[in-house]
Amino acid sequence: MVQVAQVVAGSVSHLLDRAFNPDEEEEDTEQRVVHPKTDEQRCRLQEACKDILLFKNLDQEQLSQVLDAMFERKVKPQEHVIDQGDDGDNFYVIERGLYDIVVAKDNQSRCVGRYDNHGSFGELALMYNTPRAATIVATTEGALWGLDRVTFRRIILKNNAKKRKTYELFIESVPLLKSLEASERMKIVDVIGEKVYQDGERIISQGDKADCFYIVESGEVKILIKSKTMTCKEANQEVEIARCHRGQYFGELALVTNKPRAASAYAVGEVKCLVMDVQAFERLLGPCMDIMKRNITHYEEQLVAMFGSSMDLMDPGN
Ligand code: CMP
Ligand code: CMP
Repeated sequence: MVQVAQVVAGSVSHLLDRAFNPDEEEEDTEQRVVHPKTDEQRCRLQEACKDILLFKNLDQEQLSQVLDAMFERKVKPQEHVIDQGDDGDNFYVIERGLYDIVVAKDNQSRCVGRYDNHGSFGELALMYNTPRAATIVATTEGALWGLDRVTFRRIILKNNAKKRKTYELFIESVPLLKSLEASERMKIVDVIGEKVYQDGERIISQGDKADCFYIVESGEVKILIKSKTMTCKEANQEVEIARCHRGQYFGELALVTNKPRAASAYAVGEVKCLVMDVQAFERLLGPCMDIMKRNITHYEEQLVAMFGSSMDLMDPGN
């Protein structure tokens, strides 16, 4: 279902059935969906969208078309925003509220994750023309921003075709992802966003709640830890424990262990990272879990060698 919207020129319904062809250079004469907003709404919308990975690689004109097309939706506790198996109508960005992700398989429903006041969902059915892969249930009152299917496909899919060209070779070269099928690697490209950090900028803070996974695309990242096993004098000092370069990853530990970030990460010079949210990490990187777990054993050995204990990994935080 397409939301009733003010459409700048004519109707959008005929666009629904059009197959998307990324190579077809579309003239920007397409009808645009515009939901007028107050300044206050626009501010809230911009805040909610500032970390949305699918929007990270859009140019300014594309982003402004996306923001124009978005509409507000308030939800009540227990409301189903999406039902598994339905056709995809909208993509949603969370402004606030808690939402359970429920997947039914073999006649059993299981809560596989939760969105906590930020993030986005509902992209899969729109990207791949498949039925909704999960049910999303609000567990509190909440507010969402929706983006209709037509605008999503016109802008985000076009951008994804460009992203595939840009990142295909790089993603193929990432050692962690070598065991994946080519199609699985492309699904990773579809949902990642690129973030740029300046020299000295903190990418991850030790003790924080974790929601993202990072692959270094260019530059250098240093990992520092404030260890609890050090003497009082040294305890407040961060000690460098690792460096990550192009093709290497970090930020997986807290997602795998469900614990706070075990260390901090800083940019050394300008750094570009490809970033994936925790839901995509869990959905797409299952086949790489053994490699990551093996590497976590190395972290433990390293911390024991440096501080005489790996307690910081059992009980991370400040
Ligand atoms: P879509 O299939 O369009 O609708 C349900 C959404 O739930 C899906 O897009 C994803 O955005 C989101 N989601 C989060 N985690 C999962 C998961 N493990 N499996 C499927 N969908 C998920
Ligand atoms: P995470 O705990 O999510 O955030 C900090 C990251 O630093 C961590 O994931 C690892 O990816 C990375 N890291 C690198 N070396 C170590 C180490 N020896 N101990 C803990 N984390 C490390």
